[in-house]
Amino acid sequence: MRYLTFALAKGRLAKTAMEMFEKIGIECEEMKDEKTRKLIFVNEELKLKFFLAKASDVPTYVEYGAADIGIVGKDTILEEDRKLYEVMDLGFGKCKMCVCGPESAGELLQNHSMIRVASKYPKIAKDYFYNKKHQTVEIIKLNGSVELAPIVGLSEVIVDIVETGTTLKENGLGVLEEVCPLSARMVVNQVSMKMEDERIRKIISDLKEQMNN
Ligand code: PRP
Repeated sequence: MRYLTFALAKGRLAKTAMEMFEKIGIECEEMKDEKTRKLIFVNEELKLKFFLAKASDVPTYVEYGAADIGIVGKDTILEEDRKLYEVMDLGFGKCKMCVCGPESAGELLQNHSMIRVASKYPKIAKDYFYNKKHQTVEIIKLNGSVELAPIVGLSEVIVDIVETGTTLKENGLGVLEEVCPLSARMVVNQVSMKMEDERIRKIISDLKEQMNN
């Protein structure tokens, strides 16, 4: 039996996903050591491998078949736009992609003004404004702390993830429009889905059954 390899977006997503996998008998003891600097973990008995990667790299590993299965947020799947199968909504890590800004920017959105939009997700932002709203905007790519942009005058609005809304509130900003709901997803390499059909289908059905209990 060949190894089935999982790429997990490191951080909270990986931790929750491993807790979920454990409930269906997919375990990896050596991954629980929080101090380890190891990058790849093996379960010899089940012929499984797991590795942690930066979220935005997970779809790349899966598309090229370096991982058969990926666990990653819908935000990253949309932004990376890789060739892979999205097979399951894992139901955790729920949040929303939103257009946010000061209340005053609401009018600029309604008038379809030529505005600046800052985001860590330029593809999602572009798709939303150009294809959904048919509004021409200037997209500015940032790498984090995006809420700063409208505060310091870099952009009128931002496209960013909102979970509790605390970051927005504490900075005098709010949700102006909702782009799409987000959560953790399971993605599968297109060849693996055929070659390892049985093993992968079993994992999906076990997870679904476990989620319904
Ligand atoms: C994310 C997101 C928001 C915040 C939303 O940032 O970009 O800033 O969390 O959460 P809230 O609605 O619960 O306040 P993250 O912490 O990932 O870091 P970043 O700002 O560097 O992107």
